[in-house]
Amino acid sequence: MRKTLLAGNWKMNKTKEEALSFIQQLTKEDIGEFVEVLICPPALYLEVFAGATNETPIAIGVQNIYHKDSGAFTGEISAPMVKEIGATHVIIGHSERREIFSETDNDVQQKTKASLTHGLTPIVCCGESVKEFKLGITDEIITKQIQIALEGLTAEEAKQLVIAYEPIWAIGTGEVATPAIANHVCATIRKTIATAFSKEVADGIRILYGGSVNANNIKELLDQTHIDGALVGGASLEVDSFVKLIKNSQKK
Ligand code: PGA
Repeated sequence: MRKTLLAGNWKMNKTKEEALSFIQQLTKEDIGEFVEVLICPPALYLEVFAGATNETPIAIGVQNIYHKDSGAFTGEISAPMVKEIGATHVIIGHSERREIFSETDNDVQQKTKASLTHGLTPIVCCGESVKEFKLGITDEIITKQIQIALEGLTAEEAKQLVIAYEPIWAIGTGEVATPAIANHVCATIRKTIATAFSKEVADGIRILYGGSVNANNIKELLDQTHIDGALVGGASLEVDSFVKLIKNSQKK
């Protein structure tokens, strides 16, 4: 049984005061036992969040790392650094990083490996552009992204992965993929993992959908056989909308 994972990706939002107020409110909520909740705030707030979520079921993560442990890499942070502060997860290869910061599939592969080496759970993002979607080549694009991300991993490492399918055209647009489309692509991802490793490995990995997920559409998405949770941007920014989403996800 794959436990539902709801991961909030705050991107570059909130002041420290706003972030603290959010996490203090969220930790008071009963989030139930059927879902795992993760918040990825800007890395600057990690230490404050580690304190606030200590002894709560809420996990914290970051939105990016660099693949090296330390050195002359101005502006970057490493897996051992965020792990030491208390992060358990790291989002890798979000489409905004791929598009705005020119991250490649190869970068994603190196960051995934570095996360696993240091005991962080990578949430590896993949997704096609609107043009690729319209051309009907989504499966090919996604398969290639996932194959490269998996390169050099052992089966034991692969078991730790979380994958997030996020069609670029659905991110922040209000245009959520239909549950059938999202499920089809998540099934393609699972097939790709099974081919690279085994069915057993593939069946154990959680695959999230991301792109305009909210409290109103989450249930239909989670009803799909291959969707094990969501990577949530906008709807994770307010406590009310995020808690509503958590409550609506309680039963698969
Ligand atoms: P959205 O963002 O929920 O605001 O569409 C999702 C994401 O970028 O991970």
